[in-house]
Amino acid sequence: MQTPEWQDLRVTQVNRVAHDVVELRLVSATSAPLPAWSPGAHVEVETAGGQIRHYSLCGPADDAESYTIAVLREPEGRGGSEHLHTAVDVDSIVRVRGPRNHFELVPGATDYVLVAGGIGITPLKAMAEHLQATGQSWRLHYGGRSLSSMAYVDDLVSLAPASVQVHPEDEVGRLDLAAILSPVGPTTSVYCCGPSGLLDAATAAVADSAAHDLHLERFTSSAPVAVLHETGDSFTVELAVSGVEIEIAPDQSILQAVRSAVPDAPSSCEDGYCGTCETRVLSGTPEHRDTVLTASEQARNDTMMICVGRSLSPRLVLDL
Ligand code: FES
Repeated sequence: MQTPEWQDLRVTQVNRVAHDVVELRLVSATSAPLPAWSPGAHVEVETAGGQIRHYSLCGPADDAESYTIAVLREPEGRGGSEHLHTAVDVDSIVRVRGPRNHFELVPGATDYVLVAGGIGITPLKAMAEHLQATGQSWRLHYGGRSLSSMAYVDDLVSLAPASVQVHPEDEVGRLDLAAILSPVGPTTSVYCCGPSGLLDAATAAVADSAAHDLHLERFTSSAPVAVLHETGDSFTVELAVSGVEIEIAPDQSILQAVRSAVPDAPSSCEDGYCGTCETRVLSGTPEHRDTVLTASEQARNDTMMICVGRSLSPRLVLDL
């Protein structure tokens, strides 16, 4: 997978789409058409202090002129969303990389069930619009703390009133995933995005159902951080582009060690779920610990997340 380039985009619209959720419309600062994307894709946004945050694209997928993202304000976070809420306005320039898609809408199912929790609606909104436009069978179950905190409810309900069920927790309680997912059939695909508790519940409910498959988009890691960063054997990493060799200590991640030679090596979550640090493997056998790549992508061993991954071979050669 090729790493996309960073580009400067200009903010042309700022809309409040729910309590603490702001929608930004971004166009190329040079007026060039933007790279195409498909439902489920996200872009990386560089915020104040060089932090990288991921935002799913949630505008019209056939719009080659602009990207639309929706940003939830997270006062307890590391300041990235706060910056986008308070310091970014119309005509601001935002550095963006992507799009990438680790949450592809895979064709072939006869029916699609979409389950969103809170701001997890953003990739699923793009999927719902695509499924509706292409005449496919779909249902969306959208949960959130309260109606005022839930973005795009009116848009989705008017898109397909019979296909959208809205579950504000303060009125009707939490999404009952067992009831929603246990009846689905073997040709139904399930897509779920939201907080980790929702994804865990969806995983359990799908395991008890006949569903064809389950696709998850995570905001946080599914594995305990201690497991992701568990120490291992030391090994050697060769950086093919930089021409240096680095010894990775048992208690050190590849990313930490690589920074001595490549100080601006990109990263965001550093817990293996966002995809920012994805790096091509030129030789050697990586030990994958991420939740970005699918099992078949991991089995190809041609790319890895260096914030958590280690090596099964004494030597790894990376395209850095
Ligand atoms: S920095 Fe997020 S997967 Fe490595």
